[in-house]
Amino acid sequence: MSRLEILDKASEDAPADMDFRELYFKEMQRNSELRFELELAQNQAVTFARELSRLFQHSKKQRRELAGTTSQLARYASDLRTTIFNLRSAHFELQEAYRDTIFRLVLASEYKDKDTGNHITRLSRYCTLLARRMGLPQQEVENISYAAPMHDVGKIGIPDSIILKNGMLSENEFAIVKSHTRIGADILENARGAVLKTAQTIALSHHEHWDGTGYPQGIKKTEIPLPARIVALTDTFDALTSERPYKKPYPIDISCDIIRKERGKHFDPDVVDLFLNHIDDFVSIKREIDKKEPLYSSPQVVWSERDLKKIGAG
Ligand SMILES: [Fe+2]
Ligand SMILES: [Fe+2]
Repeated sequence: MSRLEILDKASEDAPADMDFRELYFKEMQRNSELRFELELAQNQAVTFARELSRLFQHSKKQRRELAGTTSQLARYASDLRTTIFNLRSAHFELQEAYRDTIFRLVLASEYKDKDTGNHITRLSRYCTLLARRMGLPQQEVENISYAAPMHDVGKIGIPDSIILKNGMLSENEFAIVKSHTRIGADILENARGAVLKTAQTIALSHHEHWDGTGYPQGIKKTEIPLPARIVALTDTFDALTSERPYKKPYPIDISCDIIRKERGKHFDPDVVDLFLNHIDDFVSIKREIDKKEPLYSSPQVVWSERDLKKIGAG
């Protein structure tokens, strides 16, 4: 039996108001509309999938390009790090060579003086510590640390017979010694770098006194450049506590007493206060460089002829 015959049979058996044939055709029409909508939806889905695939491929390509760029950037960063490291090493080596050259030039200028190597190392360390304690900017601290060892470079122009003399200097000999400040300033004149400029200032002014009684210019107080005021004190402390051709080392307490008495006369009072307040740190530097315990105090001090006259102790 065909579908239509089945429908006719069903219509006959059905109530009079129900037309299966009409229902069937409506259903067929509905089916064909649904099929059409389905096909449409399928087509849209395919288009959408294609679009998605294309987008995915595109973003994959972009991700690949991004990954390439990222790894290239990483390579650049690594190269940059290497370059900076090499530059830093070169800068460090240059600084070391610079410091070494200064040290050896100073050694050459004071070669005949015993203990000079340790003197300039101690002085540089004392000045660095004092300048830092005074709150100077790091660059100035470094300049002073490099420049301080050159304070007596002018002694190269003073005869050995005077430099190495054990006893008292005659007036004429003292006048010749005093000229080492101007000779040093002449040697370091017209320097271009900050370190040598500071060195020239120190060489010229490290024998000036706070009260104006020093040499060569007789300037006083803050007219004396600060690096020279710092060196004046540390150089004296080092001379007092070290052996010299004309004297034995004085104990730390006697040396501090002498410095305290010169507060506001020979030395800048602020520099003296800072120095004495941190005396233990300076003594530590001395101990570290000399590799022996400094003499702190002694009931019996053997004064040198020069210092006896200076401090009026006899
Ligand atoms: Fe000097
Ligand atoms: Fe000195």
